[in-house]
Amino acid sequence: MAEQSSNPLRRPLSDGIVPEEVIARTEKHWLMVMAAMLVVMMAIIVVTGVMGALHPSSNVEVVDPQTLHLHGEFVESNLGTAIEPDGSATVRLIAEQYDFVPRCVQVPAGTPVKFRLTSADVVHGFLLPNTNVNTMVVPGFVAEVRTSFAAVGEYAMPCHEFCGLGHHAMWAHVSVVPKERFANLSLVERASCAPE
Ligand code: CUA
Repeated sequence: MAEQSSNPLRRPLSDGIVPEEVIARTEKHWLMVMAAMLVVMMAIIVVTGVMGALHPSSNVEVVDPQTLHLHGEFVESNLGTAIEPDGSATVRLIAEQYDFVPRCVQVPAGTPVKFRLTSADVVHGFLLPNTNVNTMVVPGFVAEVRTSFAAVGEYAMPCHEFCGLGHHAMWAHVSVVPKERFANLSLVERASCAPE
Protein backbone atom coordinates (compact mmCIF):
# COMPACT_ATOMS: atom_id res chain seq x y z
CA MET A 1 0.00 0.00 0.00
CA ALA A 2 2.76 2.35 0.97
CA GLU A 3 4.55 1.56 -2.32
CA GLN A 4 1.39 2.24 -4.35
CA SER A 5 0.85 5.68 -2.91
CA SER A 6 4.49 6.59 -3.41
CA ASN A 7 4.08 5.98 -7.18
CA PRO A 8 2.88 9.37 -8.52
CA LEU A 9 0.94 7.71 -11.38
CA ARG A 10 -1.13 5.64 -9.01
CA ARG A 11 -1.83 8.38 -6.58
CA PRO A 12 -5.43 9.66 -6.76
CA LEU A 13 -5.55 13.01 -8.56
CA SER A 14 -6.65 16.13 -6.83
CA ASP A 15 -9.69 18.01 -8.12
CA GLY A 16 -9.26 19.93 -11.40
CA ILE A 17 -6.68 17.66 -12.97
CA VAL A 18 -7.91 15.65 -15.98
CA PRO A 19 -6.86 12.00 -15.93
CA GLU A 20 -4.51 10.81 -18.69
CA GLU A 21 -7.05 8.46 -20.32
CA VAL A 22 -9.58 11.27 -20.67
CA ILE A 23 -7.00 13.49 -22.39
CA ALA A 24 -6.02 10.66 -24.72
CA ARG A 25 -9.68 10.02 -25.61
CA THR A 26 -10.34 13.72 -26.29
CA GLU A 27 -7.26 13.98 -28.48
CA LYS A 28 -8.35 10.92 -30.44
CA HIS A 29 -11.79 12.44 -30.99
CA TRP A 30 -10.33 15.71 -32.28
CA LEU A 31 -7.99 13.78 -34.53
CA MET A 32 -11.01 12.01 -36.01
CA VAL A 33 -12.84 15.32 -36.49
CA MET A 34 -9.83 16.79 -38.32
CA ALA A 35 -9.44 13.68 -40.47
CA ALA A 36 -13.13 13.91 -41.37
CA MET A 37 -12.75 17.59 -42.31
CA LEU A 38 -9.80 16.73 -44.54
CA VAL A 39 -11.78 14.01 -46.25
CA VAL A 40 -14.75 16.36 -46.81
CA MET A 41 -12.51 19.11 -48.24
CA MET A 42 -10.68 16.70 -50.53
CA ALA A 43 -14.03 15.35 -51.70
CA ILE A 44 -15.26 18.90 -52.47
CA ILE A 45 -12.12 19.61 -54.49
CA VAL A 46 -12.41 16.37 -56.45
CA VAL A 47 -16.16 16.70 -57.08
CA THR A 48 -16.02 20.36 -58.18
CA GLY A 49 -12.96 19.65 -60.32
CA VAL A 50 -14.61 16.75 -62.08
CA MET A 51 -17.93 18.59 -62.48
CA GLY A 52 -16.10 21.64 -63.88
CA ALA A 53 -14.37 19.45 -66.42
CA LEU A 54 -17.64 17.78 -67.38
CA HIS A 55 -19.51 21.07 -67.68
CA PRO A 56 -17.13 23.66 -69.08
CA SER A 57 -18.23 27.29 -69.08
CA SER A 58 -21.15 27.84 -71.39
CA ASN A 59 -19.45 30.36 -73.64
CA VAL A 60 -16.36 28.92 -75.27
CA GLU A 61 -16.13 30.56 -78.66
CA VAL A 62 -12.95 30.56 -80.63
CA VAL A 63 -11.77 33.18 -83.07
CA ASP A 64 -8.53 33.57 -85.02
CA PRO A 65 -6.70 36.54 -83.45
CA GLN A 66 -4.60 37.05 -86.58
CA THR A 67 -7.50 37.71 -88.93
CA LEU A 68 -9.77 39.78 -86.67
CA HIS A 69 -9.36 42.84 -88.91
CA LEU A 70 -9.95 40.92 -92.15
CA HIS A 71 -13.28 39.20 -91.73
CA GLY A 72 -15.83 38.05 -89.22
CA GLU A 73 -17.52 39.65 -86.27
CA PHE A 74 -14.63 41.83 -85.12
CA VAL A 75 -13.88 43.77 -88.31
CA GLU A 76 -13.53 47.46 -87.61
CA SER A 77 -16.91 48.45 -89.06
CA ASN A 78 -18.65 46.01 -86.72
CA LEU A 79 -17.06 47.27 -83.48
CA GLY A 80 -18.89 49.46 -80.98
CA THR A 81 -22.51 49.34 -79.88
CA ALA A 82 -25.15 47.71 -82.04
CA ILE A 83 -28.86 47.50 -81.27
CA GLU A 84 -30.37 44.06 -81.78
CA PRO A 85 -33.89 43.51 -83.21
CA ASP A 86 -35.13 42.74 -79.67
CA GLY A 87 -33.96 46.16 -78.47
CA SER A 88 -30.95 44.93 -76.48
CA ALA A 89 -27.47 46.25 -77.15
CA THR A 90 -24.38 44.35 -78.19
CA VAL A 91 -20.98 45.96 -77.70
CA ARG A 92 -18.04 44.52 -79.60
CA LEU A 93 -14.54 45.46 -78.51
CA ILE A 94 -11.02 44.38 -79.32
CA ALA A 95 -8.35 44.60 -76.63
CA GLU A 96 -4.82 45.04 -77.88
CA GLN A 97 -1.56 46.42 -76.57
CA TYR A 98 -2.32 49.04 -75.27
CA ASP A 99 -5.84 50.08 -76.01
CA PHE A 100 -9.40 48.98 -76.33
CA VAL A 101 -10.87 49.43 -79.81
CA PRO A 102 -12.95 51.50 -79.87
CA ARG A 103 -11.47 53.49 -77.00
CA CYS A 104 -14.85 54.48 -75.70
CA VAL A 105 -18.35 53.21 -76.35
CA GLN A 106 -21.74 54.64 -75.48
CA VAL A 107 -24.50 52.35 -74.31
CA PRO A 108 -28.14 53.07 -73.46
CA ALA A 109 -29.25 52.97 -69.81
CA GLY A 110 -31.94 50.53 -68.70
CA THR A 111 -31.25 48.16 -71.57
CA PRO A 112 -29.74 44.66 -71.56
CA VAL A 113 -26.17 45.02 -72.78
CA LYS A 114 -24.01 42.20 -74.04
CA PHE A 115 -20.27 42.82 -74.23
CA ARG A 116 -18.33 40.68 -76.67
CA LEU A 117 -14.58 41.07 -76.50
CA THR A 118 -11.53 39.41 -77.87
CA SER A 119 -7.82 40.12 -77.88
CA ALA A 120 -5.56 40.67 -80.84
CA ASP A 121 -2.37 39.83 -78.98
CA VAL A 122 -1.99 38.90 -75.30
CA VAL A 123 -4.31 38.41 -72.32
CA HIS A 124 -6.03 41.61 -71.19
CA GLY A 125 -8.71 42.29 -68.61
CA PHE A 126 -12.02 44.17 -68.79
CA LEU A 127 -13.83 45.29 -65.66
CA LEU A 128 -16.60 47.78 -64.97
CA PRO A 129 -16.88 48.65 -61.27
CA ASN A 130 -20.19 48.06 -59.45
CA THR A 131 -21.41 45.76 -62.20
CA ASN A 132 -21.03 42.06 -62.85
CA VAL A 133 -18.69 42.87 -65.76
CA ASN A 134 -15.29 41.40 -65.03
CA THR A 135 -13.62 39.17 -67.56
CA MET A 136 -10.26 38.21 -68.92
CA VAL A 137 -9.86 38.83 -72.62
CA VAL A 138 -7.87 35.94 -74.03
CA PRO A 139 -6.56 35.86 -77.59
CA GLY A 140 -8.26 33.15 -79.62
CA PHE A 141 -11.47 33.30 -77.57
CA VAL A 142 -14.52 35.53 -77.39
CA ALA A 143 -15.36 36.74 -73.89
CA GLU A 144 -19.05 37.48 -73.45
CA VAL A 145 -20.62 39.27 -70.46
CA ARG A 146 -24.21 40.39 -70.09
CA THR A 147 -25.30 43.23 -67.87
CA SER A 148 -27.50 46.28 -67.84
CA PHE A 149 -26.94 49.76 -66.47
CA ALA A 150 -29.74 51.22 -64.40
CA ALA A 151 -28.28 54.70 -64.21
CA VAL A 152 -26.50 57.07 -66.52
CA GLY A 153 -22.79 57.27 -65.79
CA GLU A 154 -19.21 56.95 -66.88
CA TYR A 155 -17.10 53.89 -66.45
CA ALA A 156 -13.36 54.08 -66.89
CA MET A 157 -11.21 51.22 -65.78
CA PRO A 158 -7.69 50.21 -66.62
CA CYS A 159 -7.06 46.84 -68.14
CA HIS A 160 -6.61 44.62 -65.09
CA GLU A 161 -4.38 41.91 -66.48
CA PHE A 162 -0.73 42.82 -66.80
CA CYS A 163 -0.16 42.86 -70.54
CA GLY A 164 3.14 44.62 -71.02
CA LEU A 165 4.94 47.90 -70.54
CA GLY A 166 1.94 50.01 -71.50
CA HIS A 167 -0.50 48.09 -69.31
CA HIS A 168 -1.08 50.97 -66.91
CA ALA A 169 -2.12 53.25 -69.76
CA MET A 170 -4.69 50.86 -71.22
CA TRP A 171 -8.18 52.01 -70.25
CA ALA A 172 -11.69 50.92 -71.11
CA HIS A 173 -14.29 53.69 -71.30
CA VAL A 174 -17.99 52.97 -71.25
CA SER A 175 -20.40 55.86 -71.20
CA VAL A 176 -23.99 55.09 -70.19
CA VAL A 177 -26.38 57.62 -71.73
CA PRO A 178 -30.17 57.99 -71.48
CA LYS A 179 -32.06 55.65 -73.80
CA GLU A 180 -33.68 58.50 -75.76
CA ARG A 181 -30.36 60.20 -76.33
CA PHE A 182 -28.72 56.98 -77.45
CA ALA A 183 -31.39 56.50 -80.11
CA ASN A 184 -30.32 59.75 -81.74
CA LEU A 185 -26.63 58.91 -81.85
CA SER A 186 -25.05 57.99 -85.16
CA LEU A 187 -23.01 54.83 -85.49
CA VAL A 188 -19.80 56.84 -85.28
CA GLU A 189 -20.96 58.67 -82.15
CA ARG A 190 -21.84 55.39 -80.45
CA ALA A 191 -18.23 54.30 -80.75
CA SER A 192 -16.66 57.46 -79.41
CA CYS A 193 -17.22 59.65 -76.42
CA ALA A 194 -16.10 62.95 -77.89
CA PRO A 195 -18.02 65.82 -76.30
CA GLU A 196 -20.89 67.03 -78.48
CU1 CUA B 1 -4.07 45.24 -71.42
CU2 CUA B 1 -3.14 45.25 -69.25
